[in-house]
Amino acid sequence: MNQIFNHSSEIMSEIPDKTVSLMVTSPPYNINVDYGNKWANGKLIETKGKKYIDNLEETEYRKMLERAINETKRVLKDNGQIWFNIKNRYDKGNIIPPFWIMDFFQDMFLKNIIIWNFDWGGSTNKRFCSRYEFVFFFTKQKENYVFNLEDVKIPALNYRPDRYKTQLKNPTDVWRISLVSGNSPERTEHPAQYPEELIERIIKTGTNEGDLVLDPFMGSGTTAIVAKKLGRNYVGYETEQDFINIAEKRLNYAEQGLF
Ligand SMILES: C[S@@+](CC[C@H](N)C(=O)[O-])C[C@H]1O[C@@H](n2cnc3c(N)ncnc32)[C@H](O)[C@@H]1O
Repeated sequence: MNQIFNHSSEIMSEIPDKTVSLMVTSPPYNINVDYGNKWANGKLIETKGKKYIDNLEETEYRKMLERAINETKRVLKDNGQIWFNIKNRYDKGNIIPPFWIMDFFQDMFLKNIIIWNFDWGGSTNKRFCSRYEFVFFFTKQKENYVFNLEDVKIPALNYRPDRYKTQLKNPTDVWRISLVSGNSPERTEHPAQYPEELIERIIKTGTNEGDLVLDPFMGSGTTAIVAKKLGRNYVGYETEQDFINIAEKRLNYAEQGLF
């Protein structure tokens, strides 16, 4: 398929039932991220008009996510899987953990809650700085799903040749993967871009070459780029044409093998 559609993923009529092998996404978090303007050193340097507003009324926000998740379930193959990246939010001094999303996945199997740990971010001095987000991993069926563990094993630090056949081990459910830094070649203008390395591990684990990968909130196209680099197909939705333009530029670079 290999297309990003410019409308809300609440309706995915372009995708036939049971054709997607894996969905991976980070949805908007409803934390007032400024998706429309360009800032540098605290100064507004460019306004690009009306953009997606990341501060919906909370029930409307959750309904929007639920509709996109229900559409995902429709297009997911019977052996398909969903990886959902979300983080804690803060409200009036309290942490609001994102476990409410479990309500939308009652008919699926929760296989892992990955802690994605990174090494930098906002700084605070009245509590510990937060350095993780969650990635929830759900499957449609209990046992029947792709899990290519051998393709994503990592070097074992405490390798003992007398005990283990190989120096490689299961990466576990705590993943230390850097955020996309300001000077990384991956960096785009998108304010909430996730790193290719995170998505590479997920797509390698849960799909085989030629499979179709869906991202209902495509942003700058990270999911599509990684899928393409790994010989998978992609389909996605993004409400902002500017971000689709960025994704298409990245896809062209990837096609030329530039990065
Ligand atoms: C957290 S960002 C995704 C970033 C992406 N993972 C990346 O690496 O660039 C969420 C994106 O969802 C888009 N969006 C918001 N509501 C949407 C909807 N209903 N349907 C499709 N896209 C939507 C926003 O414009 C934003 O670009």
